Amino acid sequence: MDEHLNIAIDGPAGAGKSTLAKGIAKRLNIRYLDTGAMYRAMAMYAQKKGVAFADEAGIERIIGGADIRVVYDGRGQRVLLGGEDVTDGLRTEALSMGASSVSKHPCVRKKLAELQREVGRQYDVVMDGRDITTNVLPHTKHKFYVTASPEERANRRLKELRARGDETETYEHVLEELKKRDHQDSTRAFMPLKKADDAMLVDTTALSIEQAIELVMNAIAEKEAR
Ligand code: DC
Repeated sequence: MDEHLNIAIDGPAGAGKSTLAKGIAKRLNIRYLDTGAMYRAMAMYAQKKGVAFADEAGIERIIGGADIRVVYDGRGQRVLLGGEDVTDGLRTEALSMGASSVSKHPCVRKKLAELQREVGRQYDVVMDGRDITTNVLPHTKHKFYVTASPEERANRRLKELRARGDETETYEHVLEELKKRDHQDSTRAFMPLKKADDAMLVDTTALSIEQAIELVMNAIAEKEAR
């Protein structure tokens, strides 16, 4: 069986991972898998079941019933929770923190990582998240760690919120939440966010999206040619 092209991208919140990953997927005409959306769906499920995000025993109790699936349509990736398309409700601040909390539990990480590996076995795909290069697709040769300064990431996040009509969120609060989430994601005991030794570092602080895409596309082409 042919091995599929798997491109792994990790990095902290707001570093531009998803814009970059989508751009790469478009150029290569392959799928993009936003793994954060799957953790967000898991947080939404816990919320629906009335289980606190941090309650590991509670999450273990309900996880068997969490039917999270990813499908693709003309709009791109859609996340189904129990068969219902919940994609449009996933990118809230509450579910950002919720996803970061539920993602600490090994039972959650094991379940979602397995679903993600299955996508990699079936399709050519660009995946982004926190443990893709280190845990989900450790054997791929295409690994990238995308980052930017916290201030730049907070600015980008604020812009995104304003574009969606949020006029109340402040820069200071966004920066504070982002740092909290960085800390939580990189200090958890099980599969924390960290740069894989063999991942290429892409600092997007001073790069345009086009420049970042170019950099990554060149690195991919170089490795494929070897
Ligand atoms: O990429 P995002 O902001 O949508 O991710 C939300 C949270 O989910 C993030 O703070 C940590 C968790 N996450 C994870 O632990 N591993 C992944 N591969 C993707 C997301």
